[in-house]
Amino acid sequence: MIINMEFTIGDIFTELPEYPEFKKGIRRAPKREFTLTKEETQLALKNALRYIPSKWHEIIAPEFLEELLSLGRIYGYRFRPTTRIYGKGIDEYQGKILEGKAFQVMIDNNLDFDISLYPYELVTYGETGRVMQNWMQYHLIKKYLEEMNDHQTLVIMSGHPLGLFKSHKTSPRVMITNGLMIGQFNDLENWNRAAALGVASYGQMTAGGWMYIGPQGIVHGTYSTLLNAGRSKLGIPEKEDLRGKLFVTSGLGGMSGAQGKAVEISGGVGIIAEVDESRIQTRYSQGWVSAISNTPKEAFDMAHKYMKNKQPIAIAFNGNVVDLLEYAVAEDIHIDLLSDQTSCHAVYDGGYCPAGISFEERTKLLKSNKTEFKKLVDQGLKRHYEAIKIITSRGTYFFDYGNSFMKAIYDAGVSEICKNKTNDLDGFIWPSYVDDIMGPILFDYGYGPFRWVCLSGLDSDLDKTDLAAMNCIDKDRRFQDLDNYNWIKDAKKNKLVVGTKARILYQAAYGRLKIALKFNEMVRDGIVGPIMLGRDHHDTGGTDSPFRETSNIKDGSNVMAEMATHVALGNASRGMSLVALHNGGGVGISKSLNGGYGMVLDGSKRVDEILESAMIFDVMGGVSRRAWATNNNAVETSKEFNHMDNNSHITIPYDSSEEYLKKLVSDNYIKGGK
Ligand SMILES: NC(=O)c1ccc[n+]([C@@H]2O[C@H](COP(=O)([O-])OP(=O)(O)OC[C@H]3O[C@@H](n4cnc5c(N)ncnc54)[C@H](O)[C@@H]3O)[C@@H](O)[C@H]2O)c1
Repeated sequence: MIINMEFTIGDIFTELPEYPEFKKGIRRAPKREFTLTKEETQLALKNALRYIPSKWHEIIAPEFLEELLSLGRIYGYRFRPTTRIYGKGIDEYQGKILEGKAFQVMIDNNLDFDISLYPYELVTYGETGRVMQNWMQYHLIKKYLEEMNDHQTLVIMSGHPLGLFKSHKTSPRVMITNGLMIGQFNDLENWNRAAALGVASYGQMTAGGWMYIGPQGIVHGTYSTLLNAGRSKLGIPEKEDLRGKLFVTSGLGGMSGAQGKAVEISGGVGIIAEVDESRIQTRYSQGWVSAISNTPKEAFDMAHKYMKNKQPIAIAFNGNVVDLLEYAVAEDIHIDLLSDQTSCHAVYDGGYCPAGISFEERTKLLKSNKTEFKKLVDQGLKRHYEAIKIITSRGTYFFDYGNSFMKAIYDAGVSEICKNKTNDLDGFIWPSYVDDIMGPILFDYGYGPFRWVCLSGLDSDLDKTDLAAMNCIDKDRRFQDLDNYNWIKDAKKNKLVVGTKARILYQAAYGRLKIALKFNEMVRDGIVGPIMLGRDHHDTGGTDSPFRETSNIKDGSNVMAEMATHVALGNASRGMSLVALHNGGGVGISKSLNGGYGMVLDGSKRVDEILESAMIFDVMGGVSRRAWATNNNAVETSKEFNHMDNNSHITIPYDSSEEYLKKLVSDNYIKGGK
């Protein structure tokens, strides 16, 4: 029971902290959309001042107003801790229960200067993906986590800790929602208003869900996507890699930064365009790209040399992707695989840098003339589209990387990018990586981005878990299992860790369970310290999005958001330690609903029991929906599951003859019905 416990900024800070200095060289978020009226601006201030004792209002309110008018949001910079924030070993945190301390590790990792895209603005990745909205929330959440006991649940609403409520031992300790909106208002304009008012946060996926593990989290998926794109589109045999092949793309940011590493691990040659030199330097110093070029010619010349020698290399091109592609068009350079990972989910908010202006000019223009900026973005996207059209007509395989790239081109006024040439209801002319590759080859089988963090912070724990996970994989089952086995075998050698001692490993339902139970046993036996399990929301059942995760759902239910909701509710009712549900994710507000979990392994039998039901439902909930949409590989996986699991059963669809239905309908159809 909590007696006389106060959770206010006034209790956490007995004195007003000094206004902090901003460290030079740390990336800062550009100004966000700000369209509030005078009355709404007043409301935004009133909202933010709910965190602040009234004795400080006359100092803080003008500061908040300045942040809001100049940056479009209130961050509460004054309350940012002045000490270094990073995911420390769990024993360095205060807390009454393991989960309370574990979540603090995860939050701090998301805000680490080495990990976070705009750490001062609490953005972890994906241009706008935030851990919470402001630094007052950071302190309150931390305080709640320190005080929480194992019969309480902390409820977070778009970064705001609503409170700690009595629950029971097998309830989630934290429930998070980010940016969920009423359907009628679920659009960018209303969202930007709500965000400026301080009542909506864009959690992306693992930023607001506290499970981000640095760029490593996405490398395995990118590696699998590239390998399988090569196998299915370039005719590379199943057990071979991308040696001698060229992949061209853009973005060296939070997730896109994984592309260089992934192309090298898969044996190929990559050129990755990036307009922000600081991000190139970050990836270069981390060893995630191996060379930097300043002209398209230099980049392609170097790529050709490595391709000829069948050696892998990731080359950063310091410039706009449009310039790179227009050069390839003019010089008739063949590209094997082509994609794009600029942040088009936030295309007018700084996510896409227009061709013709520098990154610095883009930042200035965003602040000084948004109308002109939007015009330039649209022009740049049209040039980008024209270049890709020519390159693909010459035999290149282009795939959309789930960044809303094709949607952005459509929104810029190019309706010929739509399959039906009119609107986006039937999708776009080029496939998304999920539609063609990840959906049928991975998600329909239940393979997804399972991950863990060794909370002790010890390298030796990570080594032990890598080995244990590798021993759990039956590498002869499917080629996907062999890829995963090879991945974990070489994971340490590939130096993937940035931040906490974490690992990503794609696994299907029973693979995840087997590894999870093994880890919990290792914790129980004192072989390793406690472990946080989780996954990216970008998974088999984690996300409903017709523009990405569920783009290979063809029964019309791609516009529904019930799977991610079921999976989140299912995880909560089965007792996962943390459950999150968000609007938006990688494709932008109103375009997806996504959820995830965190599960703290403390070695107990209680945790074994939760894992046995929750880990399976988390994946098979998604497979069952994919099966009902008649995706062949999901149907096959569900039938197998029905034979294996005595306590569960998935409804299997009957197949029907397309030909028969086509004839029946065309012979009898009357527009509008009888
Ligand atoms: N990696 C994945 O598996 C994956 C999966 C799904 C979606 N995505 C999507 O990919 C996008 C990128 O994610 P992120 O976390 O890397 O975002 P980010 O904003 O951190 O990085 C994007 C990078 O693109 C650069 N850029 C913007 N315009 C450019 C241009 N015209 N030419 C060259 N560089 C340009 C930016 O400077 C930035 O560094 C997001 O929309 C995300 O949702 C990625």
